[in-house]
Amino acid sequence: MEEKLRNQVKVYVREYYKKVHGHKKVLEYIPPSGKLLGEEELLNMIDASLDMHLTAGRFNKTFESKFARYLDVKYAISTNSGSSANLLALSALTSYTLGERRLNKGDEVISVAATFPTTINPIFQYGLVPVFVDCELGTYNIDAHKIEEAISPKTKAIFLAHTLGNSYDLDKVMHIANKYNLWVIEDSCDALGGEFKGKKLGSVGHIGTFSFYPAHHITMGEGGAVVTNDSKLHKLIMSFRDWGRDCICPPARDGVCGKRFSQQLGNLPYGYDHKYTYSHIGYNLKITDWQAALGCAQIDRLESFLNSRRKNAELLTKLLCDLQDYLILPKVAEGVNPSWFGYAISIKKTAPFTKQELVSYLEYNKIGTRELFAGNILRQPMIVYDDVNFRIGDSKLINSQELNSSHYELLPNTDFIMDSTFWIGTFQALGDVEITKMASTIRKFVDAKTKRN
Ligand SMILES: Cc1ncc(COP(=O)(O)O)c(C=O)c1O
Repeated sequence: MEEKLRNQVKVYVREYYKKVHGHKKVLEYIPPSGKLLGEEELLNMIDASLDMHLTAGRFNKTFESKFARYLDVKYAISTNSGSSANLLALSALTSYTLGERRLNKGDEVISVAATFPTTINPIFQYGLVPVFVDCELGTYNIDAHKIEEAISPKTKAIFLAHTLGNSYDLDKVMHIANKYNLWVIEDSCDALGGEFKGKKLGSVGHIGTFSFYPAHHITMGEGGAVVTNDSKLHKLIMSFRDWGRDCICPPARDGVCGKRFSQQLGNLPYGYDHKYTYSHIGYNLKITDWQAALGCAQIDRLESFLNSRRKNAELLTKLLCDLQDYLILPKVAEGVNPSWFGYAISIKKTAPFTKQELVSYLEYNKIGTRELFAGNILRQPMIVYDDVNFRIGDSKLINSQELNSSHYELLPNTDFIMDSTFWIGTFQALGDVEITKMASTIRKFVDAKTKRN
């Protein structure tokens, strides 16, 4: 009876989807990113509603196992955003259970300043010291040759995003990490499905993080995931996600660990309920089953989304490649198969026009553009007006209140990215028509400015 009623509801949902959402809309404005939802997504969300389970349940279990299988990792842990995923990854590394490898206040974490804020924020939030290394142009990733000179005896981790879905040199990063006994967190929020020498981005370092905000490769509305192959880190990430508790039994399933009333931990009495025993100063960063239901339908479409993103980026390069006297187009290193989050373009210093001029022209012509996130995060009010410590390359400790132009000169490419780089869309709702319009609008602008015609 329940199954029969569910199937009847599904028939109406399918009909609703087809009539209300089932037509491809002509895009008057070409956004740089967005979601692509279909009938299966709506059906799954309705199915989750009919369950009336609310918190993470059967859909979450399916999502976590599908996600782990896709990335070929042992553990995938869902969470409510990519920012939460980053916070969890770093929190786990601060656990006292890691002994000497624990990140303590004042320890250093290598990263870049051309980044999204919530890759850096957990470093500050835990009283750690970010060490900023300059980026390469074209990939907008860390210049891996400059990592070693930035390492000091206090360095304990490397925390880097794969910019716009294009991988940094993971061989070099992992080699340095092994040499200096450093943790590696791959922020893969913008890089789901990207590969480095056949391995999925996010699966190579100790921990990988993902975002499922609508701008990303797949969406849950809001959502994220943390992945690892390390059973100890898995337990720590679960603990920090679920209030800091010691027990990793799934919510609403008591006694799976078999130790519910048979332990003595902390200064608690013997047999104190393991469900209410807290081994870390944690959070609640879990998702609901609606989010997971949406994620389950989206992950089934990931390969087709990735194909569209790659096809769109390829077409942009084909249509813009003769403008390289003026523009820097994305570069892809050998062995890398990016999962383009967006298509970055930089204006060369010698070009007779600025980024602002081109961006204004594109926006006026209804083509959406985005900054490369924070540009140079060390120029953001969050740093300049606050009182935080960091290093740049092999510099001494710098306080944000002392920042001056000589510090910015240590990161020339990062400043160049802030001044001269922007990105346009490659996402799955865009096709040849939109990509051709984007490229021809850029060409028209460049031709007019350079009087090429
Ligand atoms: C590299 C990177 N890391 C983390 C995040 C944060 O993800 P969320 O928006 O899901 O918190 C983003 C957001 O787009 C991002 O681009």
